[in-house]
Amino acid sequence: MPAIVLLGAQWGDEGKGKATDLLGDKVKYVVRYQGGNNAGHTVVIGDQKYALHLLPSGILTPSCIPVIGNGVVIDPAVLLEEIRGLNDRGVDTSQLKISTNAHLITPYHRTIDKVSERFLGKAKIGTTGRGIGPAYADKINRIGIRVQDLFDPSILRQKIEGALRDKNQVLIKVFNRKGLEVDEVLREYLDYAEILRPYVADTSLLLNKALEKGENVLLEGSQGTLLDVDHGTYPFVTSSNPTAGGASTGSGIGPTRISRVIGIVKAYTTRVGSGPFPTELFDEDGEKLRSIGGEFGTTTGRSRRCGWYDAPIARYAVRINGLTDFFLTKLDVLTGWEKIPVCVAYDVDGTRVEELPASQSDFHHAQPIYEYLPGWSEPISQARELKDLPANARAYVKFLEEVSGAQ
Ligand code: IMP
Repeated sequence: MPAIVLLGAQWGDEGKGKATDLLGDKVKYVVRYQGGNNAGHTVVIGDQKYALHLLPSGILTPSCIPVIGNGVVIDPAVLLEEIRGLNDRGVDTSQLKISTNAHLITPYHRTIDKVSERFLGKAKIGTTGRGIGPAYADKINRIGIRVQDLFDPSILRQKIEGALRDKNQVLIKVFNRKGLEVDEVLREYLDYAEILRPYVADTSLLLNKALEKGENVLLEGSQGTLLDVDHGTYPFVTSSNPTAGGASTGSGIGPTRISRVIGIVKAYTTRVGSGPFPTELFDEDGEKLRSIGGEFGTTTGRSRRCGWYDAPIARYAVRINGLTDFFLTKLDVLTGWEKIPVCVAYDVDGTRVEELPASQSDFHHAQPIYEYLPGWSEPISQARELKDLPANARAYVKFLEEVSGAQ
């Protein structure tokens, strides 16, 4: 079986960890292809709850080989802490593979992320402050540090020296911060080298060989379609490509190998950080979604902004990712509402618009046009099949399928 992509069809936090975990037994490799420890996957197995930030969810499935692909940015301190945390709870992480080409987040990336957000004031992106944007900026600027550099101390020194020459000027002169010492950063990163060495591999080669042998590879996106740096609500996005194209570049697997692209959607919508969000609720319905849905970030603990389901966004995700399937999560959170609004189109300055506006300014003005579906009061968290759901919940799912372009 070829490669499958599983990604967020909204603004992230759709419950991808759960979906990956359900598919975990059927796949041999679970690969993260972008992002870093800005992500947060919560996986519950039995009475154990695991919050993962950098490791692919497949790490919890013993038959799976978890892979951190070249498109990911790695904070080694966070990675090692996550590995140790799992080992302490008896989870074997020895199968983990890390791409030689993945880029590293360093202390200066973290500092620049935080101070530049502070300087943006009201215009801030609302980043997770983990150094993600600055690390990707260095990658594109061709001054990043890659995993493979850890194993060549003189190259590593040269690269840290080169980077700090600029960064220290910016930190000291623009942001009024202390500069960093080359030796200190070098020492810290050389220590990581020894611990990380057993995990490092040519992951593109490994995955392509696995596909040739007929093994299943699951490419797991972080964040979501609307946080994509090319296709999302720029500039209120993350600095990588969570969309399906990113799965190829971030793993070294060609697009012709990918046979399915599964989009995860929540039965309503959430977003963290700044930026437009047409169906956002500022009333008690929003509060109710947040508290029943437990909508607080796994990574930062921030409250998520909550709103109704937005079908134009789902249709956009179908288009941008070539989705072949939808995976709907958190339907049970909607139990108890008398009527449930679903956004089917937008009103942009008096005109009905069916698609996501191509202009960001128009998207900022977009007002949701709702259709109202009857709710249900029966608890559904024990339902395992569509037929176990009350008629109105089934009708809600059917309606989402119709307006999201799932058929
Ligand atoms: P960064 O990825 O830390 O640079 O943050 C950029 C934007 O992406 C901010 O709005 C973050 O809140 C958002 N973001 C980053 N990671 C996640 C995630 O895993 N879930 C939801 N939003 C995220």
